[in-house]
Amino acid sequence: MSEVKVHPVMAHIAEHALIDDAGYQRMYQESIQNPEQFWGEQGKRIDWIKPYTKVKNTSYDPGHISIKWFEDGTLNLSANCIDRHLATKADEVAIIWEGDSPDDDKKVTYRELHEQVCRFANVLKAQGVKKGDVVSLYMPMVVEAAVAMLACARIGAVHSVVFGGFSPDALASRIIDSNAKLVITSDEGLRGGRTVPLKANVDAALAKSGVSADCKVIVYRRTGGDVAWDKTRDIWWHEAAAKVDAHCEPEEMSAEDPLFILYTSGSTGTPKGVLHTTGGYLVYAAMTFEYIFDYHEGDVHWCTADVGWVTGHTYILYGPLANGATTLMFEGVPNYPKTNRMSQIVDKHQVNILYTAPTAIRAFMAKGNEAVEGTSRSSLRILGSVGEPINPEAWEWYYRVIGEERCPIVDTWWQTETGGILISPLPGATLLKAGSATRPFFGVQPALVDGEGNILDGATDGNLVILDSWPGQMRTIYGDHDRFEQTYFSTFPGTYFCGDGARRDEDGYYWITGRVDDVLNVSGHRMGTAEIESALVAHPKIAEAAIVGVPHEIKGQGIYAYITLNSGEVPSAELHKEVKDWVRKEIGPIATPDVIHWAEGLPKTRSGKIMRRILRKIATGETDTLGDTSTLADPAVVDRLIEERDRHA
Ligand code: WTA
Repeated sequence: MSEVKVHPVMAHIAEHALIDDAGYQRMYQESIQNPEQFWGEQGKRIDWIKPYTKVKNTSYDPGHISIKWFEDGTLNLSANCIDRHLATKADEVAIIWEGDSPDDDKKVTYRELHEQVCRFANVLKAQGVKKGDVVSLYMPMVVEAAVAMLACARIGAVHSVVFGGFSPDALASRIIDSNAKLVITSDEGLRGGRTVPLKANVDAALAKSGVSADCKVIVYRRTGGDVAWDKTRDIWWHEAAAKVDAHCEPEEMSAEDPLFILYTSGSTGTPKGVLHTTGGYLVYAAMTFEYIFDYHEGDVHWCTADVGWVTGHTYILYGPLANGATTLMFEGVPNYPKTNRMSQIVDKHQVNILYTAPTAIRAFMAKGNEAVEGTSRSSLRILGSVGEPINPEAWEWYYRVIGEERCPIVDTWWQTETGGILISPLPGATLLKAGSATRPFFGVQPALVDGEGNILDGATDGNLVILDSWPGQMRTIYGDHDRFEQTYFSTFPGTYFCGDGARRDEDGYYWITGRVDDVLNVSGHRMGTAEIESALVAHPKIAEAAIVGVPHEIKGQGIYAYITLNSGEVPSAELHKEVKDWVRKEIGPIATPDVIHWAEGLPKTRSGKIMRRILRKIATGETDTLGDTSTLADPAVVDRLIEERDRHA
């Protein structure tokens, strides 16, 4: 390994930080030794209608996986994120919205947010949405996306946000799986100067078989573009909102009532509806936001994620608002109209905390100074990274160029399933090593295990597991608790297995090495190889497909597709384009293969299992370390694949 760059805690950060190293050590020990006491105290950081008397009731026992936190307490999440700040900060800005065009922005105060959320909550009620009903969102990055999520929470409806980049097919399968009663969308989205046909996509999704014929659609007018209209089904947001009043009492929810479903990819099968509940999630979101970003009153926080991903849920919306912070929502893309857009937004809105992804950092890095041209970024205090391992070069560039060596970087490791960050530095407490997510957050007990599940000590590599529950943990897979147990608790019984591998160094620091299962991470987006493969084989000319991830300079991982055509079909430039378009249509542009390798046959074991290990090596050109190929049904396949690859390269 090349030499590790170490960055001590900065004095100017430590001076004002919420916690130092001794404080971290002490609190961490407390959180592990006495979780009841620790979380019992931390739970008080939010307002409860009926206070809890029970704190933790969790079991990782095989066959009895059950996770409950604060179970007899009641609360409302929207009241916690909005109403309780009204007494002291009604006129402070809750959301800064920056449009796709640099000329387009607005600020929404806590008072205004309260009014909008109450009004929209009444719109939902008027449509018959009740506590426990599922509402799908397919929205651009506009304030109304946040309003809709908070309005759901206000009346006890469960939101299921679907990323606006997903195709109608992907949207339809999520609407069907979640039994959504209603879809909230926009006429069009606007990103990088181009429109995205969101309403048309919803129309196409709702036309698929299996979607309830009663499903209503509320449409927020963003661009004013032409959309088809079904009078019996479609409702304009502005018209409906004008008809209801602006008062809506928050619904009293039990801590374990569902808050949201968010679909994510796994190594097998269709995307899973990760279910989060109300109380524990909010406590964990609020606490991690405060400590990890060292949040201080008045800070402007900008997380560049989309609300369609968990990072948007927890660190654009719920974590910041639970703390009464000002959070920035950006509609566009960070390099439009020019490469320095992200830095310009930082200056324009005096952003103090910037939370973005390694893929964006690498894309900027490739442009050198253009990313910061004409900007000072002097407001920045804390930088964050999330979504995939950050390579040390990108880390150092982020640190040096964006942060001018003034801002600590918190490399935050977590997942849709974990609700909030599990491993991360704390700005005033943790010595940083470029490329390491460092140490566990309070209450989190990571461990490394070998293939048999034996816990490994000291500096070592292994599969990353978590030994006990934390309040932000997912509770189940919507509608399929068995799959929940199978996916996360059966590989290494007694622990939560996240699917990532990691290394722990001599100082106990964790270095996430990436997925150890068949999940890809492309530009920070999670994608199951099985999902892309099944989209491919649905194409009438394709007989078989296998997907592997290959290193990609900007995206982290690229998608390499091995495709076997039906007999009689021949590869061509047209078919190449047709196949790429097909995947875009079936899943969305983020799943488009980078490389298509027309293969005559795929390497299989005698029992017919595709040997991905070999396909990965061939894709990356590591053909001299293929390992044992003698168990293959037809070893000659490998030589043919290597030849074909050389032709493709
Ligand atoms: C990866 C995003 C290394 C990891 C919050 C995980 C990371 C998956 C990091 C979850 C990080 C996320 N360092 N890898 N700081 N953050 N990952 O569900 O493989 O979209 O399992 O949640 O992203 O992706 P998800």
